[in-house]
Amino acid sequence: MTKIACFVERYNFSDPREEAALQNFRCAAEKLGNEFQFLFRENIADIPKYNSVFIRATTDPLFTAYIVSKTAWELGLKVVDDPESITICANKIHQYALFEKFDVPHIPTVFLNKDELHHREISRIFREFGKPVVIKAPYTSFSRYVEKAACETSFREVAKRFFKKSDVLAVQKFTPTEFDWRVGVLGNEVLYVCKYMIPRGKWKHGAKLRGKPTVIWGRTVALKKEDAPRGLKDVALKACSVVGKGLYGVDIKEVNGDYVVVEVNDNPSIYAGYEDSRDKDIYTKIIRYLSE
Ligand SMILES: Nc1ncnc2c1ncn2[C@@H]1O[C@H](COP(=O)(O)OP(=O)(O)O)[C@@H](O)[C@H]1O
Ligand SMILES: [Mg+2]
Repeated sequence: MTKIACFVERYNFSDPREEAALQNFRCAAEKLGNEFQFLFRENIADIPKYNSVFIRATTDPLFTAYIVSKTAWELGLKVVDDPESITICANKIHQYALFEKFDVPHIPTVFLNKDELHHREISRIFREFGKPVVIKAPYTSFSRYVEKAACETSFREVAKRFFKKSDVLAVQKFTPTEFDWRVGVLGNEVLYVCKYMIPRGKWKHGAKLRGKPTVIWGRTVALKKEDAPRGLKDVALKACSVVGKGLYGVDIKEVNGDYVVVEVNDNPSIYAGYEDSRDKDIYTKIIRYLSE
């Protein structure tokens, strides 16, 4: 019997689809004869009492979830969001540099330092990538620091704002698609495949409605993983292999039949009736991995 702690914050229970997924994890664990407890931040001193920790709260290196991951890891507990993966996934510059080094197909990207924000460099980038380009601050999630720029003025405006967050930015070729492929990977194996549709009139999955706190997510269309393109799955596995051996959600765009990685996310969201709708065994697979 494995004692599994599932680290959550209150907000993980605010969406009924996520709450249902959490209950599915609990059922899967208990069916396999394991103990499964939700662990809240008040009780993280209990981590040593468990054999493995499954983190569902948002993993940012500045958040409690990171402390949980690091503590569990150092105690030798099994975790699917290990501290190293969290660190790599939280930093786009680090991640893209790994993609370049290990030849993971990804969206054409250049890095821009604070002291390079001048006319010659901006023109060179527009010549290389065309217009518009996509500018990203390294520590973004939920598309918060990902914006387009179609001319030098807007390039400078966005870059100046993002340089307050970081000394180096990533600039990419604008690669619009109807959907992002999302491939769930665990321990070098594909767990599930779906399409995150880009909301109509938007270009980002999870684009923010201006002036409103709510994020509009596009539809999720799941495929049976056996039916998903081999090339897609290979690129997803290759991208994860440079990050780690845990649980990831890889965002991939399909461009003229090629698959290019947008990013690897640690701690991918799993909502009942969404990511799991064609591959129902994802709960059992994750629990098995945590109890091996
Ligand atoms: N170069 C690009 N061209 C077109 N769309 C992009 C590009 N980069 C990102 N996107 C869209 O924006 C979303 C957010 O970008 P991403 O790099 O994943 O940042 P975040 O970590 O904030 O989610 C992606 O899921 C994708 O839909
Ligand atoms: Mg993303």
